[in-house]
Amino acid sequence: MIKGVILAGGSGTRLRPMTKVTSKQLLPLYNKPMIYFPIQTLLDAGVKDILIIVAPEHAGDFINLLGSGKGFGEDINFSYEVQDKPLGLAHGLGLARSFAYGHKCSLILGDNLFIDTFKADFDEFDASGQGAVIFATEVPDPHRFGVIEFDENMDAISIEEKPEHPKSNYAQTGLYIYDEHVFDYIDQLTPSPRGELEITDLHKIYLEKDALKASLVKGVWQDTGTFESMFEAASIVRDIELNKN
Ligand code: TTP
Repeated sequence: MIKGVILAGGSGTRLRPMTKVTSKQLLPLYNKPMIYFPIQTLLDAGVKDILIIVAPEHAGDFINLLGSGKGFGEDINFSYEVQDKPLGLAHGLGLARSFAYGHKCSLILGDNLFIDTFKADFDEFDASGQGAVIFATEVPDPHRFGVIEFDENMDAISIEEKPEHPKSNYAQTGLYIYDEHVFDYIDQLTPSPRGELEITDLHKIYLEKDALKASLVKGVWQDTGTFESMFEAASIVRDIELNKN
């Protein structure tokens, strides 16, 4: 069974002053707190055991909102881990070591909206997957993203963070699946010039071992970390809600 980790720490500086006294992932996307959407993405993929990484100043609010997970289903289990400082995505994932060591593990960013289902990919990885899978999507402006280049078998050839000359039009989104080796590889990482353990450096370790694959998001992917992208995400959710009946 693949375990799930949601990164809901960070500082949300691009959304100040909205994030001055609360966490970005607790802000609304139309009719629900943002974190409900990555939770639903994992639940739809069949993940039932989920660790939520939170910043210390907002930890209580997440527990108040989400509790044990039983509100989402009888067999759903939420745990929490505090990330004292936002030392990077790979650092946050590393806090899941005792929760997920020896298991396959998925990571989703708490500020990412996916309108898609990944059940088939998760089931396949659970049954026989090795290495890591990055969910990617075609974008018009790849130089703004982590760019992944891959061959006809979906095997990754290169990954580059915000390249000047992108080698493909595919951006890595905020959803990944890893095999049991992920925590040993995180131990090998050293902080980048900005002082963070970078997720791209973790993926480069998998790439060096020819163990990194891409899988395409067929539906919508929307980051929500800026005013514009959050507004766009909220309008996507609104359209879906209004068209429900
Ligand atoms: P980012 O959007 O890269 O960072 P941020 O949320 O701190 O925002 P800003 O750049 O505006 O200051 O983070 C992506 C997701 O990962 C988001 O859900 C927050 C989470 N995160 C952590 O949980 N721990 C971390 O150390 C970092 C950097 C991010």
